Amino acid sequence: MGEFARLSRERFGEHADEYVRSATHAGGPDLDAVVRLVDAQPEWVALDVATGGGHTAIAIAPRVAGMVALDLTPEMLDAAARHAAERGVSGIEFVLGDAEALPFPDASFDVVTCRIASHHFGDVQTFADEVARVLRPGGRFVLQDQCVPEGAAAATFVNLFDRLRDPSHNRALSESAWVEVVSRAGLTLGELSHFENRHVLEEWASMQGCSSDTVKRLREMLADAGEIALAWMDPEGEGSLQSFTIRQIVLVAEKP
Ligand SMILES: C[S@@+](CC[C@H](N)C(=O)[O-])C[C@H]1O[C@@H](n2cnc3c(N)ncnc32)[C@H](O)[C@@H]1O
Repeated sequence: MGEFARLSRERFGEHADEYVRSATHAGGPDLDAVVRLVDAQPEWVALDVATGGGHTAIAIAPRVAGMVALDLTPEMLDAAARHAAERGVSGIEFVLGDAEALPFPDASFDVVTCRIASHHFGDVQTFADEVARVLRPGGRFVLQDQCVPEGAAAATFVNLFDRLRDPSHNRALSESAWVEVVSRAGLTLGELSHFENRHVLEEWASMQGCSSDTVKRLREMLADAGEIALAWMDPEGEGSLQSFTIRQIVLVAEKP
């Protein structure tokens, strides 16, 4: 298991229930866009990679014949299974596994989703290649993740900010990097859109159990942000009211 996989398992294992309750994960226009782009058909079998608290899998499961929800963290899978039961959604198969080595034969799924997760993966290209492998021809990949600005320095800054709060954050990609990854995986890009969420810094940090010292360092980083990162993160307010923006990308791509 790679370093980021080990860190993800450790950290999400400790905070599994917070992710089930998190408002950002529970829904929003980005999840609505994912469900719309999936365009589920009743006979389809779907895979949700890095299912976390199961919000995406739970939204899609009632619309398809089969739903498989995969995650690297056993505690997250347990929390997602409890969450599905509470919501009265049955029939989801929960599978322990790594996004970079999907434990399924070629062409097993009609659709693969992955939401708020790929920034944790060690190698996003390996993940996208795996998605392409397990999709049937004509199958679709719907991806949502936070994204970073195009400039290398600003992108690195935004990723370092996220990693200070959560060491299992490896790297969020820019839009152009996603376009390249999808194309290298042999998938044909369709609709691509952007969303954003505002977060109160202290609440966002507390979801990962950050110390007050880490919150202070996050504030110092925001105060030091360069022009592009500043425009991207758009910090506002002070102290416990300080908030900033996380930008997200949602895309759909089809296997020819
Ligand atoms: C924020 S949660 C996902 C949220 C969820 N997809 C949703 O829609 O609410 C991130 C998840 O990624 C999982 N994860 C991180 N690295 C992974 C990997 N390499 N393979 C599979 N799951 C991974 C973590 O265990 C965690 O449950």
